[in-house]
Amino acid sequence: MQRLSNKNSRCRECSGKNKSEMIILGIETSCDETAASVVVDGKKILSSVISSQIDVHHPYGGVVPELASRKHVEAIAPVVNTALSDAGIDSKALDAVAVTRGPGLVGALLVGFCFAKAFAFALEIPWVGINHLEGHVNSVFLESDPPPFPFVALLASGGHTSIYHVTSHTRYELMGQTRDDAAGEAYDKVAKMLGLGYPGGAAIDRIAKKGAPENISFPRPFIDKSTFDFSFSGLKTAVRRYVQIHSDDYLQRIPDIVAGFQEAVVDVLSYKIIHAAMVKRCDHVAIVGGVAANKRLREKIRHDAEQKKLTVHIPSVELCGDNAAMIAAIGYHYLKNGVVSDLGDDVFSRVKI
Ligand code: KG4
Ligand code: ZN
Repeated sequence: MQRLSNKNSRCRECSGKNKSEMIILGIETSCDETAASVVVDGKKILSSVISSQIDVHHPYGGVVPELASRKHVEAIAPVVNTALSDAGIDSKALDAVAVTRGPGLVGALLVGFCFAKAFAFALEIPWVGINHLEGHVNSVFLESDPPPFPFVALLASGGHTSIYHVTSHTRYELMGQTRDDAAGEAYDKVAKMLGLGYPGGAAIDRIAKKGAPENISFPRPFIDKSTFDFSFSGLKTAVRRYVQIHSDDYLQRIPDIVAGFQEAVVDVLSYKIIHAAMVKRCDHVAIVGGVAANKRLREKIRHDAEQKKLTVHIPSVELCGDNAAMIAAIGYHYLKNGVVSDLGDDVFSRVKI
């Protein structure tokens, strides 16, 4: 269980609660992490607990939905209890619950969603269902230097790769998205192809440092297109073709292969988000989602943005991957404006924002 160090926790006896502040419990179970977090006023994290299922899914080379649901059932109550005790509060100090409603694996989402409904109902407090993608975009507001509105955001995760023009916490214009694989999905598939295990992003990030990207040049899909759409499945096929052609000795070339692959992905992501900022005349760009943890991507976007005098906002690595603090953060803005869910609401598997 991963726990974010917590300097702000409350004294359980006095609860230390300021009447004007809103203390929200966030819950996230859309894929293979069971997460809970206590956040004050959408920005101050009192606790953030993430129980990862990587060890469960690792032997299968990807997430097995049925196993994910079962593991969420086991983990949800202990994870929520730990989040409350790390925050130093009793459940009675909570003002509301925010929970991921979708997109994601339906069986996995239902575990967190039903738990949140029952928990809020028992405590007689409001609750709100949250779009996971809006959670990622709002993760930058948990950092000390959030972007001013409007800004452009690149969301790159295992299931999505999109660019948004963001005009408020809850208003987004979708500028472009992937037409096939997501960036994280391409990382995971290339890692699987090369026998580097699941999830592949972090493994490729690590191994690419030992290779030279200039040794193998892979295509930069859609970089010359005027749209903000992406396509990563052809790049994945180019890697597969390279491996087939070099079947005798590709194992020795793995660091160069993954470095070349990563450089192609990073070039496209950096080019598109900076181009989007120029078109929308935004001075601030945000990079969010699991792939935003990638060291080369962080370095490249910071470098390219500096050339154009843009300010880049990337959450700390713990807030790039799936977490519940980002769900509580965006939940605050909906709840503050009176948006609440009711017991009849259901989860959803696919969505666009
Ligand atoms: O946001 P996230 O945790 O879950 C989804 O909403 O999908 O993103 C997970 C994705 C996976 O595809 C994983 O391989 C990728 O993020 N990822 C990375 C890195 N860490 C995680 N990709 C590249 N470099 C990394 N360091
Ligand atoms: Zn995610």
